[in-house]
Amino acid sequence: MNILVTGANGQLGNSIRKISGSYPNNYFFTDMPEVDITNLPLLENLMKEKQIDAIINCAAYTAVDKAEDDVELATKINVDGPRNLAIAAKNAHAKLVHVSTDYVFDGKRNLPLKETDATAPIGVYGRTKLAGEEVVKEVGCDAVVVRTAWLYSEFGGNFVKTMLRLGRERSEMGVVYDQVGTPTYATDLAVALMELLTKGFSGFSLYHYSNEGVISWYDFAKTIFDLSGIKIKLNALESSEYPSKAERPAFSVLNKKKIREAGIKVPYWRDSLIECLKLLNA
Ligand SMILES: NC(=O)c1ccc[n+]([C@@H]2O[C@H](COP(=O)([O-])OP(=O)(O)OC[C@H]3O[C@@H](n4cnc5c(N)ncnc54)[C@H](OP(=O)(O)O)[C@@H]3O)[C@@H](O)[C@H]2O)c1
Repeated sequence: MNILVTGANGQLGNSIRKISGSYPNNYFFTDMPEVDITNLPLLENLMKEKQIDAIINCAAYTAVDKAEDDVELATKINVDGPRNLAIAAKNAHAKLVHVSTDYVFDGKRNLPLKETDATAPIGVYGRTKLAGEEVVKEVGCDAVVVRTAWLYSEFGGNFVKTMLRLGRERSEMGVVYDQVGTPTYATDLAVALMELLTKGFSGFSLYHYSNEGVISWYDFAKTIFDLSGIKIKLNALESSEYPSKAERPAFSVLNKKKIREAGIKVPYWRDSLIECLKLLNA
């Protein structure tokens, strides 16, 4: 297959690059400014020129707090972008793999969230990502949309890397314990996406994918420190003690039954964290 990867310099894009050798295909890894997913004519040309069979969209506006003041750009990238990709895929008879987020939910339930559960995003980022899912479905190309959560990796900026830095700089810090979910190692997500693509699909499907298990950000930070031998006094904070521009869902554990039944492995969060820390602490 000829596979176009957009937003390839981000966490997920780099993770797909990392594992791509295990899935022999021709890959075209692209990012801004050369390949802007908001530019439909450019995408249409690329599809023809490179004879693209599948697109994996890793491009997104992911700055959750900044999005609150930047609705226009967040909408352009998270809604117009996937619409363009879906149109380009449809016209080229190609498949689209698109990634969305647990932030499409309001976090008010306390049972793992299924693909069929009602969405109710509480911020701009979540609203634009939900609209992005909807436009992909509307355009009607062959597409899978995979919602993921709490993504981290050895690439770019993320919670694990921030904790490692702050843990080495400070003697004490606080992390919220009233936001519960499951982290996702981007390498695991990259494998899941490649497996879905390799197995093949037609029509539209929506899946949830994170690592397995349930923790708070506090537990996540504590485990990062313990596994890295970092001694720090860690305080459990309530979200109200750590105000942020955008509200976050309090509970966003994703139910992975559907994707497991599709034959995709879902590693336990701690096992995957150990793998990532081996690279980050090397
Ligand atoms: N990070 C998380 O915790 C998290 C959680 C749930 C779901 N997700 C979803 O998972 C996916 C991957 O996230 P990630 O953490 O890998 O994102 P990321 O690291 O922020 O990477 C996104 C990439 O897209 C690029 N990009 C931005 N606008 C673009 C455009 N118009 N055209 C082409 N590329 C563009 C970015 O470039 P610049 O850096 O230059 O802007 C960046 O390289 C996204 O769909 C995200 O919404 C992420």
